[in-house]
Amino acid sequence: MALIETRGLTAAYGDFQALFGVDIAVGTGETIAIIGANGAGKTTLMRSISGVIANEPASILYRNEPIGGLPAPDILARGIAMVPEGRKLFPSLSVEENLLIGRYGRTVDGPWTLDSIFGLFPILKERRSNPSTALSGGQQQMVAIGRALMSNPDVLLCDEISLGLAPVVVRDIYAAFPRIRETGASIVIVEQDIAQALKVADRVYCMMEGRVTLSGRADDLSRDDIHKAYFGTDHHELA
Ligand SMILES: Nc1ncnc2c1ncn2[C@@H]1O[C@H](COP(=O)(O)OP(=O)(O)O)[C@@H](O)[C@H]1O
Ligand SMILES: [Mg+2]
Repeated sequence: MALIETRGLTAAYGDFQALFGVDIAVGTGETIAIIGANGAGKTTLMRSISGVIANEPASILYRNEPIGGLPAPDILARGIAMVPEGRKLFPSLSVEENLLIGRYGRTVDGPWTLDSIFGLFPILKERRSNPSTALSGGQQQMVAIGRALMSNPDVLLCDEISLGLAPVVVRDIYAAFPRIRETGASIVIVEQDIAQALKVADRVYCMMEGRVTLSGRADDLSRDDIHKAYFGTDHHELA
């Protein structure tokens, strides 16, 4: 049984329809990657699951219960935490205060505490009293991930955590994922970096223009299939 499932999920911003019947499933302990070009609807899918956008209740199931109509605080309380696109840290708060914010709305005991987050990202311990704005982009992303983990979620949604970061920094951040997996959490990673996505994910969904255009096990998808699903053209049609 899937932990999260979307069934014919649609979403719109006013008159503009952004999702057209998206079906995805996330199993317990599974790591899923959602890839796709700018504007494909990846963030809209994350906002839908996390309750930022209201949807048809039965179009999103969590533990087989309809949650599509629930607001974000209820979704977080049930164990789905999001690392939002652009990190969205509180600039006036310190690193530690930003992390502690993650405990509001869901105080469930589990593997993640301030100490274990500092174990996961040791640089954050050194910088715990600094304002979040004093940190590098990569360090800020670590705070955003840590803040989401502080709620001890069963599902961690990560929207474009590598965007704008140097490859060496991206590698440091992704080095944390095996330890997050070990806790048994399900992870959904939205990535434009296809190679990175294929490296960490068990399964991949590719989206284009509000639809899923390809899905499969990361090991089974060919580069050409992915290219076609991502851009809507065959490789050789470009250039
Ligand atoms: N707040 C919004 N208001 C209107 N249109 C939006 C809004 N957010 C996203 N869109 C549109 O919805 C589509 C999907 O966007 P998004 O989910 O952000 O894609 P992605 O994350 O894959 O880049 C795009 O065409 C985008 O312009
Ligand atoms: Mg996005």
